[in-house]
Amino acid sequence: MTIDSMIDNNLEIVTTADGSKTIYNTLVGEHYHSRNGALQESRHVFVNSGLNYFLAAGNVKQVSILEVGFGTGLNFLLSAEVCTENKIALHYTGIEAYPISAAMMAQTEYEQYIPAPLWETYLTSYPAALTDKINLDIYNQLRIAHCKLIDFKTDQQYDIVYFDAFASAHQPEMWEQAAISHVASFLKPGGVFVTYAITGNLKRMLKGLGFKIEKIPGALGKREMLRAVKEF
Ligand SMILES: C[S@@+](CC[C@H](N)C(=O)[O-])C[C@H]1O[C@@H](n2cnc3c(N)ncnc32)[C@H](O)[C@@H]1O
Repeated sequence: MTIDSMIDNNLEIVTTADGSKTIYNTLVGEHYHSRNGALQESRHVFVNSGLNYFLAAGNVKQVSILEVGFGTGLNFLLSAEVCTENKIALHYTGIEAYPISAAMMAQTEYEQYIPAPLWETYLTSYPAALTDKINLDIYNQLRIAHCKLIDFKTDQQYDIVYFDAFASAHQPEMWEQAAISHVASFLKPGGVFVTYAITGNLKRMLKGLGFKIEKIPGALGKREMLRAVKEF
């Protein structure tokens, strides 16, 4: 079987080291988050190193995020919470080739980490967000593009890319030039690209695409991660 035949049946809920849940994909042999802690990874790599870094520039009233590998939506939920607290309009697009069911989503129990109204609206809006842009509340808009990264098309340009693909050992094509230059084309100049991994090849590709590279401390269990800012 290949990743293309992926359905909920191939997915198992697993508890990670910080007590938060993730999903294990038995076909790919990969977890959706770090086994050292799904929540700590999401907060460190995407929310703090991506969104909060971008917001630190100050006076941001609106932010757009493109995520590669939407999965459970944990990165979206934690980002939405930050934007609501700071009264910032969030336009979030998640690209997901193999969406999980809303029932599987509920089993993650992520309601423990975010305000109840956001979680409830998220669970009910999730199926509709797979076909349309949905306003969850006055601050948070979500769209999930149900397609492979390489087939994703939009006229929109984003402030931040959360690159949360499976590791290159399991899905090498996601880390190759075609995929990286495709996703980089959707970032505005000054936009921020973050991912949990860092390799020489990824750094070279992003440098060649006009990015300034930063090697920063990784989430628990990983020494380093990559943040890159698009210079032109
Ligand atoms: C490491 S997991 C991401 C976890 C997710 N960000 C979360 O918080 O649950 C990788 C995700 O990429 C998705 N995926 C696999 N191949 C893809 C492709 N070609 N394009 C877009 N998404 C893909 C998987 O289905 C999975 O949801």
